[in-house]
Order: sequence, then C-alpha cells, then structure tokens
Amino acid sequence: MTLHKNFALRARPFLKWAGGKTQLLEQFRLRLPLELKNGEINTYIEPFIGGGAMFFSINHEFPLTHSYLMDKNEELILSYRVIKKSMRKLIDALESLESEYISSDPEGRQRLYYKVRQVFNQEKPRFNFHQYNPDWIQRTARIIFLNHTCYNGLFRENRNGEFNVPFGKYENPQILDKENLKKVALLLKRATIISGDFTGCKQYVDNKTFVYIDPPYRPLNRTSSFTSYSKEGFSDEDQCRLAGFIKELDKKGAKIMLSNSDPMNEKPCDSFFDDLYADFTIERVPAIRSINCKGFRRGKINELIITNY
Ligand SMILES: C[S@@+](CC[C@H](N)C(=O)[O-])C[C@H]1O[C@@H](n2cnc3c(N)ncnc32)[C@H](O)[C@@H]1O
Repeated sequence: MTLHKNFALRARPFLKWAGGKTQLLEQFRLRLPLELKNGEINTYIEPFIGGGAMFFSINHEFPLTHSYLMDKNEELILSYRVIKKSMRKLIDALESLESEYISSDPEGRQRLYYKVRQVFNQEKPRFNFHQYNPDWIQRTARIIFLNHTCYNGLFRENRNGEFNVPFGKYENPQILDKENLKKVALLLKRATIISGDFTGCKQYVDNKTFVYIDPPYRPLNRTSSFTSYSKEGFSDEDQCRLAGFIKELDKKGAKIMLSNSDPMNEKPCDSFFDDLYADFTIERVPAIRSINCKGFRRGKINELIITNY
C-alpha cells in the first residue's frame, strides 16, 4: 500500500510513556526547522523515542522519507519492532487479552492484570530480545495490556528491572486500538528501529537530517529522581555526554532540537543547561508538570527547547 499523507495523518503513540511530549507539540511545531517545512530535510532521527509523540506528530505534516527511532529501553524497542513486523498477529494476541479482561468482573480483571504482570516479569531474565521469535508478539501484547490497564498508565521498572506498577481499576480501558496499530505499522515501514544508547544514531546523521532529542529529565533535586523508565537512570554525567554528542551532530550539519525540564523552575540560579548549550538557541516555554513524585511541585513550570538553528 502506498503511504498516503492523509492515511498517516491519524497515527498516534500506542503506549503512554513517562515524559510523553503531547502537551508541548504545538511549541515544537512552531520551532521546526525551515528545511523540514520546505522539503530539503526528509530524514528524521529520534534517539530517545519513548512513546514517540513528536515522531507521530511530524509525520502528520511532513512526508519524511525515512526515520531512525532509538531507545535504550528494550521492551519499548521490542514493541516498535513487533508492530512493524507482525502487526496482525499482535492484534490477535491483544484481542484475546482484551476479551478476557472485558468479560471479567472487577476481581477477575485484577487477577488477570497480576497474572499477566507476573508472567511478564518471570520471563524477562531469559527473554531473547535480540533475535526475532514468536514470543515477541505475546510479550508486546503484554506490554500494551499492562500499559493500558495499570495505575496511571505508565511503564516503570524497579531496580531489578521488574515492571512494578499496581492495577489501575479503569471502567473501560482501551486495550486494543486496531486502527491506530495499523497506521503505526504503516509508518514504521519507513523507519529503522534501533535499541541501545543514543550515541548509536550518529552514523545516520548528515546535513539532510532533523534530530529531535528528548532525554530523561534531569532530576530537580535528590528526592525527585524521576528517571525510572528503566533500571538505569540518566545522570548529570549523561547529560554532559549528550551535550558533547549533540555538538558532534551539529558539526555534521544536522538540524537539532532538544527538550528538557528547566532546572531554574526549582533553583533560579541553576544554569546547568544554559552553560552546556551556551552556543545554541535556548527558549523557555510554559508547560504543566504531568508526572509527579515526592519533591516535585505540581502546576506550571517552564520547559527548555534548545535548537542549533
Ligand atoms: C523523556 S523520555 C522520551 C519521551 C518521548 N519523547 C515521548 O514523547 O514519549 C526519555 C527516553 O529515553 C530513554 N533512555 C534513557 N537513557 C537512554 C540512553 N542512554 N540512550 C537512549 N535512550 C535512553 C528512556 O527509555 C525513555 O524512553
């Protein structure tokens, strides 16, 4: 099937992901490079893909020739790969989980949730994430099921790498969104999906590339260590390593956009990112903090948008 612009129009993130950027898309859109708008740039790279809000949004408007999507979280990458390769089988697996869930009473739903979570965690240590096999389909169905029925709809692992979010008690969670999965699968036909550290995308970057970078937030203080997408966090050292990497990509002529939380929300004198990206354009845009844990303030905050153009 030809990928017609109007068909791609409606593809949306298929997972709710911590740090998802849906609320900031309009701010990003206003700052996209001209070369993307006039067709000079047609390759897109996102090394911290997460739920992919920006990737899907960009595809609504611009006919990208190819995308390179990366993340260190292997469960997430597994899901993207399965949707790309085996979308129909995934839909079957999700259909069966969904019908079991929908036909159960509240206790039965809860039992099902914890059973799926247990299998998901038990199979992890021996799971082959590297070579495609039919188990990938069941595991992806479990990831989507857990993500849509867990408390707060998030993917979070504890220090042992186990998915530890409790049951979510939703009236009518949408476990399977068939039409969206079909559209996502179609978009992913033109994407290379890569697992691992962000530095792995360097070889694909040139002066015809737009790179959007959305790393884990920098913890604002010692107690608000919200970096738990996976058992490994993202330290200040990683933020500095990333800044060095972005400077290399800049030299390759790519157009780059980076977003992060603004440490000045908490400490007005904390110029960590202003110092790291002193040669770039730094803008502060209003956002609403959606993920909260001890030590975070709720309410309006600024988000940083940093560009090299
Ligand atoms: C802020 S989230 C991205 C959210 C995404 N923009 C969205 O809209 O859902 C950051 C992502 O970085 C990934 N990550 C953490 N450390 C990484 C690393 N060293 N290299 C690549 N990805 C990493 C996490 O797994 C997480 O998915």
